Amino acid sequence: MRDWIGWHDAYDDPASSLARRLEVVKRRLDQALDSLTTTRPRLLSLCAGDGRDVIGVLARRVPSLAVTALLIDSDPKLTARATAAAGGAGLGSVQVRCADAGDIASFADVVPVDVLMLCGIFGNIDHSAVKNVIQATPGLLNVGGYVIWTRGGSEPDRRPQVRSWFESAGLEEVAFDGTPQPYGVGVNRKTPRSALSPTRQITDRLFTFA
Ligand SMILES: C[S@@+](CC[C@H](N)C(=O)[O-])C[C@H]1O[C@@H](n2cnc3c(N)ncnc32)[C@H](O)[C@@H]1O
Repeated sequence: MRDWIGWHDAYDDPASSLARRLEVVKRRLDQALDSLTTTRPRLLSLCAGDGRDVIGVLARRVPSLAVTALLIDSDPKLTARATAAAGGAGLGSVQVRCADAGDIASFADVVPVDVLMLCGIFGNIDHSAVKNVIQATPGLLNVGGYVIWTRGGSEPDRRPQVRSWFESAGLEEVAFDGTPQPYGVGVNRKTPRSALSPTRQITDRLFTFA
């Protein structure tokens, strides 16, 4: 199994592409939260790691914060870090769950949400499975809700295909940050028109890490 704690160490170097990607994800999340009209938006982050993307953004919104969030990761050390960070930032409405995010039972109690974070997942599951996740995504979102996702740009560059799969699933592209950066950060939105595209109903697993 991959050392996910060690993977997070790259965030410590502000010049690393991971640290630069983090800044993009945070900015996009901030913008998404700003544009939501729901009074108490719900956020779900799958494979959330130590949650620094979400917690960093929500922490800046205390005390006016109205967002409730669920962060899921399967590594107990990372979820402990996320719990500590959320507590330290006074984010009482952020729940951290140590669970298998590929199992829909792990988050069935909170969907649909207004923001779904799928960061650091698509490069770690079979590429054909990425399409399945994307086709199921509209069913996890409220109308007007956003999915924020990442996909690295290593060859073969899968970013264009991921973007087109989101469009085909009826999720309108709001922003995409990619080339010349080695990462891709996408933001797609569920609109009333999204209902015209078929949504894949997930019955058991959303994805399995390779
Ligand atoms: C590439 S990291 C991304 C972390 C975070 N989203 C980020 O972008 O900083 C992948 C994360 O997925 C977690 N993970 C792997 N398999 C998982 C599963 N089945 N359920 C939940 N988390 C899982 C790992 O522990 C790791 O924190």
